[in-house]
Amino acid sequence: MTTDPVLFNDWHPVAQSTRIVAGAITATDLLDTRIALWRDGAGNVHAWEDRCPHRGTRLSMGAVDNDTLRCAYHGWRFDGEGRCRHIPALPALEPDRLKARVGTFHALEKYGMVWVCIGSPSESGPPRFPEFADERLRKVWCGPYEVQGSGPRIVENFLDMAHFAFVHDGILGVPEQAAIADYTVETFDDADYGSGVWAKQCRAWQPQASKAATGGSDIDYTYRVVRPLTAILTKHPPGGIVEAIALLPQPLTETSTRVWIIMALDDFTSDDDALRAFQDTIFLQDLPILESQSPARLPLLPGAEVSVACDRMSLAYRGYLKRQNLRYGVLRDD
Ligand code: FES
Ligand SMILES: [Fe+2]
Repeated sequence: MTTDPVLFNDWHPVAQSTRIVAGAITATDLLDTRIALWRDGAGNVHAWEDRCPHRGTRLSMGAVDNDTLRCAYHGWRFDGEGRCRHIPALPALEPDRLKARVGTFHALEKYGMVWVCIGSPSESGPPRFPEFADERLRKVWCGPYEVQGSGPRIVENFLDMAHFAFVHDGILGVPEQAAIADYTVETFDDADYGSGVWAKQCRAWQPQASKAATGGSDIDYTYRVVRPLTAILTKHPPGGIVEAIALLPQPLTETSTRVWIIMALDDFTSDDDALRAFQDTIFLQDLPILESQSPARLPLLPGAEVSVACDRMSLAYRGYLKRQNLRYGVLRDD
């Protein structure tokens, strides 16, 4: 189990809400911890340690039975609080004399996702994503994408514009226009997004900036890092509604990550599959790059990699992770 207090006490996305249905158990992983997700008859989501206290079997192999969870091995039954209430091999035992208890974690639902905190959650809850509440925007859930790479490498790639012309040639950039115009990087602290670092006035010429684009356009972007593993990109079309894409990595281990993306778009003509397919194309172009990066953990060591002026958002992100004292998925010398 991770000892990183930052991620341990933070909320992480682990599933799309619609996929966690009453009566079924879903196994997932978070920060090297096996988790069993299930929904009771009242609609509440539970996130438990996926390990039976009797003999360590994965509880997700068992079944939901009348708002209790039954282990597949010896049939012990656990109530909604994780307390053992019945042992079939000793049916006469009074439930109150049963001491076994499953480890339980904090779980809630927001933005159509299940979020889990395996430590002590802060008051602030999951990351802020104000565009999600904008009813003028259509919400589309993409992924999840499985990456053999660390969460911080994935976030840094999301903030990186200089790769568009090469990795996303013909879609988000073209090699003939690879130059990155000046942009501004600052820290922020506001009521809408909380605090973090942001890059604003990012401009890029993109042949196909989105599924709805009918030709090339000059795009005005803002990137915000709102948590160590959460970044939000907003696009500012002249005279149009601000659209957003939230990158929500679920750290499975230090070097393997499941990536969820939620888009809030001003596009009500394309169908969901087409919008997701566009994002799939982009992400699958990034995937081999991400999985090739060495070391897999993002180096926060001075001089570990060569950076240039247009990498200043990446450097601001690395500085933010250092200040947040992040230890999981990064390399550092302190
Ligand atoms: S291991 Fe779960 S009931 Fe025995
Ligand atoms: Fe990319």
